[in-house]
Amino acid sequence: MSHASQTTSPGETQPLSGLFQLLEPHLAQLDAFLLAEVNSFEEEIQDYVRYCMNTGGKRIRPSLIFFSGWNGDETVDPKLVKLAAVIETIHLATLVHDDIMDEADIRRSRPTVAKLHGNATAVLLGDALFSHAVFLATQFPTSEVSEKVAIAMRNVCTGEILQTMQRGDPDIDLPTYRRVIDLKTAELFQVACFLGARLAGREPEYVEAAGAFGRHLGIAYQIYDDLTDLVGSEEKIGKTLGTDIATGKATLPLILLRDRLPPEEAAQLRETLAGKRDAQVDRWLDFLDSTGVIDEVREAIFQEIRSARATLEPFLGNPDADLLNTISQLLWNQVDTLQSDGASH
Ligand code: IPE
Ligand code: IPE
Ligand code: MG
Ligand code: MG
Repeated sequence: MSHASQTTSPGETQPLSGLFQLLEPHLAQLDAFLLAEVNSFEEEIQDYVRYCMNTGGKRIRPSLIFFSGWNGDETVDPKLVKLAAVIETIHLATLVHDDIMDEADIRRSRPTVAKLHGNATAVLLGDALFSHAVFLATQFPTSEVSEKVAIAMRNVCTGEILQTMQRGDPDIDLPTYRRVIDLKTAELFQVACFLGARLAGREPEYVEAAGAFGRHLGIAYQIYDDLTDLVGSEEKIGKTLGTDIATGKATLPLILLRDRLPPEEAAQLRETLAGKRDAQVDRWLDFLDSTGVIDEVREAIFQEIRSARATLEPFLGNPDADLLNTISQLLWNQVDTLQSDGASH
C-alpha cells in the first residue's frame, strides 16, 4: 500500500507516554460513577444497562472533557466526572441505536444489544440511556449543561436520520457528507470540550477555542472511522466493519473512489452503493489503494487535525491546551499507521 503522506506531525507539545497514566484516576472515577448509575434503573433492565456501561470503550469523549478542563494537577473534579458520565451515556445510547441501523453484530468485541436482545429492546434501551443522561445533566446548578446536551442529542439524532435518508444514494457530495458527520459525531466532541472547559471555569475565549477544537477533531475522527470501516481489522477495532458500503453509506473514501475510478468501475461502485450488487469490500480495497484514495483520505484527516490545533494556538503552553494537542497527536499517529492493519473482515 503506498504511503506518500506526511509522517511527522507539527505541534506535538507533550510526550505521548504518560497520557493514559494522567487520565487513570479520572477514568476510574468515571467507571465507578457509571456503574453506580446502573442502580437508578429498574431492576429488570439493570443487566442491560450494565452491559452498555462496561469499560470496553476508548472513553475518548470523557478524556477530552478531563483534558479541556485540566487544572494542572491530578485532582479529580467531580463536576467533570459527572459531565463525562452525561456525554458518555449519550454516546452509548447512540451506539445502541446505530448498531440497529447498521445491522452490526459486534461492538466493543462483544455482541451488540440488538443482536442479543432484538431491535425493539435496543431502541428502548437507547431511549432510556438518553433520558438518564438528560436527568444527570439537570443536576448542574445552571441550565447551560442541560441546554447544550439536549441540543447535542438532537443534532446527533438528526445526523443519523439524514444519513438514513441518504442511504443508497450513490451521488452524495462532499458538503452533504461533511454536514452529516458534523451533526452525528463532531457535535458531541464539540460539546465535550466546550463544557469541560466551561465547568472548569476557564476564560470564555479558551472555552470557545476548546469547542472548535473538539468539532474539528470529531470530524477527523469520523473520517478516520470511515476509513477503518474499509481498511481496518475487525479483530483490532472490535466492531463489525464493512457495514458502510454494505448499507449504502457513501463515506469520504467511497465518494472519492467513485470520483477517481474509470467510468465502468465507477458505475459498478454506484450500483453497489445503491444496493444492486454485493458489497465485495476486498475488491474495492484494491482500488482504494491503487487510485491513491487512501492517502487522500489520510491527508483530509491530517488537514482537519491541523485546523483543530490552530484553534488552540493562542493557548499553547497551558496544560489543558497542551493535553488536547497531545490527544490530537494520538489520532494523527493512528492514521499514520493505519496502512499496516490491512483488511481482514
Ligand atoms: C464510535 O465511537 C462511533 C463513532 C463516532 C465513530 P468510539 O470509537 O469512540 O467508540 P467507543 O466508545 O470507543 O466504543
Ligand atoms: C457513528 O457512525 C455513529 C454515531 C455517531 C452514533 P458509524 O456508524 O460509522 O459508527 P460505528 O462505526 O458503527 O462505530
Ligand atoms: Mg455504525
Ligand atoms: Mg463506522
